Amino acid sequence: MEQQRQEKKQVILSGIQPTGVFTLGNYLGAVRNWRAMQDEFDCAYFVADLHSLTVRQDPAELKKHSLEAFALLLAAGIDPEKSLVFIQSHVPAHAELGWILSCYTQFGELSRMTQFKDKSAKHKDNINAGLFDYPSLMAADILLYQADLVPVGADQRQHLELTRDLAIRFNGIYGDVFKVPDGYYSKNGARVMSLQDPTKKMSKSDTNQNAFISILDEPAVIINKFKRAVTDSETEVAFREGKDGINNLMTIYSAITGKTMDEITAEFSGRGYGDFKMAVGTCVAETLTPIREEFSHLMKDRAYLQEAYRKGAETAAYVAGKTIAKVKKKVGLLPVK
Ligand code: TRP
Repeated sequence: MEQQRQEKKQVILSGIQPTGVFTLGNYLGAVRNWRAMQDEFDCAYFVADLHSLTVRQDPAELKKHSLEAFALLLAAGIDPEKSLVFIQSHVPAHAELGWILSCYTQFGELSRMTQFKDKSAKHKDNINAGLFDYPSLMAADILLYQADLVPVGADQRQHLELTRDLAIRFNGIYGDVFKVPDGYYSKNGARVMSLQDPTKKMSKSDTNQNAFISILDEPAVIINKFKRAVTDSETEVAFREGKDGINNLMTIYSAITGKTMDEITAEFSGRGYGDFKMAVGTCVAETLTPIREEFSHLMKDRAYLQEAYRKGAETAAYVAGKTIAKVKKKVGLLPVK
């Protein structure tokens, strides 16, 4: 009998902060691709609640958003039977390795992080050590699971580079402890911009509600927001420089329908922006409706959600536990037994 060699799948890991309901941008740019990778890879996805503490949070809101973020991942098709799904703070090894790695991260390196510079400019009254040290915790998240590939947006590329540097540095001192991960910058990860200012990334913290589509918006709301989307004074649906609003709508439409920009231009030639906006709004509403429905179904079943994140935490603790035990031994921490 021919023996089939079981290839070990590559490990994918990514996290998302629970700072509010996800947007269409989070979905098309990240979570939808996470779902698609579940068969090909060994995936771990988590709600990065510890990272959210770097900006002051209302405790009740954070708790609510963490549960919702977990439910949204499941509603969007992340299957806890196939993938490891969990909440970061449920697995103490993250904080432990975060601390240890922070002792191997240089002040100068952290000072160069553009996200730190941006966020400290934005939150001048709360430039805390956690905000500064955020990348060491993120490195811990990744290295604990010996991830091969980390799907992240361009804004996290610098953090991923630092993670690689830390892994290489640590391995250089102590031998092979960590897998050195690669970034996974998917071609399919649409970068969705604000509907009101298409030069800015779509953000769930935008004060203008019309600027973003929440994954939980009702169809009528979605269509309305697209109707109001900022475009330009021309009439041609074409992807080119200077047409940021139309480019953004075309990106969204293309991400959902799989049509190319040329096909979209041909489809709407001579039809004007009104028709195009309607078509984009309709396909977005159709895509998000099943997720919204599944989300509301899940949120009514707390026992199921609790059991799902409890199991996730258990498995994550097991996997992460192997790495953290090795690290502690290598650096010389005295074992309790
Ligand atoms: N910093 C990421 C973000 O804000 C979230 C995150 C935390 C993450 N830890 C991670 C992403 C580990 C990938 C891997 O988008």
